[in-house]
Amino acid sequence: MPSARTPDGVVTPPIIEVDDVSRSYRLGDRTEGVAALRGVSFEVQPGEFVAIVGPSGSGKSTLLNLLGALDRPTSGTVRIDGRDVATLSDTQLARLRNAEIGFVFQQFHLLARTSARDNVALPLVYAGVGRRERVEQAAQALQAVGLGHRLDHHPTELSGGEQQRVAIARAVVTAPRIILADEPTGNLDTATGDDVMGLLERLNAERGAALIVITHDMEIAGRAPRQIRLRDGVVEHTSVVSPGSGPPPAARGRPALRATDRALQAGRGPAQRPQPDVPGDRS
Ligand SMILES: Nc1ncnc2c1ncn2[C@@H]1O[C@H](COP(=O)(O)OP(=O)(O)O)[C@@H](O)[C@H]1O
Ligand SMILES: [Mg+2]
Repeated sequence: MPSARTPDGVVTPPIIEVDDVSRSYRLGDRTEGVAALRGVSFEVQPGEFVAIVGPSGSGKSTLLNLLGALDRPTSGTVRIDGRDVATLSDTQLARLRNAEIGFVFQQFHLLARTSARDNVALPLVYAGVGRRERVEQAAQALQAVGLGHRLDHHPTELSGGEQQRVAIARAVVTAPRIILADEPTGNLDTATGDDVMGLLERLNAERGAALIVITHDMEIAGRAPRQIRLRDGVVEHTSVVSPGSGPPPAARGRPALRATDRALQAGRGPAQRPQPDVPGDRS
């Protein structure tokens, strides 16, 4: 399936293409390396929400590094927005990451001695955006994740859920076409993790960025319309929630999210389910 057709008949190329990809790690002098991925193929369409699941050691982080242009495959092809990462220089890969991809990690990876606003503005520094616009765009991104009142706070002055929301603001401040999240709720309690997932889903729906969430939590994975299951470096199973098979968790969540957004715009609280960007953060 090289491309997808939208309901109005427009054919769009995939934003990510993974074709028969393997990745081995060399260990010291040994000739036999570790085969972390062995012949993985799939595609992600623009604006899609996909969960990648699998037990520890199945190759999830290795795959995320490839999808994020942080690494090149040992064999096979990874194309991001039509560009074969194997043909790009390190500088070109860095530019591709900065322009197209927002990363969210389990450990947040925020700079400790830096305000929320300056943490979020950092990708804009690399993108060559001037100081005044950086400050403005970072503040807007923080407002979009419900942290407009925490611009000058440092990470140590924020809860875990708030820190992850700063990391999400940093991931989306450059308006990337792909959001990659590796166990984004792994360091959060269930309720806060739910809020963070709701926020990622809202950004996915509103901004049309493809969202790829790596998780070993089946409840989190169940929110995605499509799940790719890895085991021992191969795709074991792909499950797609078809429109006819009853309301999937994600489909149930989306109308509620829109209702919530309308309620927020009208200055009211959440309509049906708790949202991360309303007062009363439980994190
Ligand atoms: N840098 C590395 N060097 C050697 N082996 C690695 C390296 N990174 C991962 N591996 C191995 O590759 C396999 C897949 O790892 P990983 O992609 O981190 O899995 P997951 O994220 O699903 O837990 C594991 O066996 C792991 O030990
Ligand atoms: Mg991992």
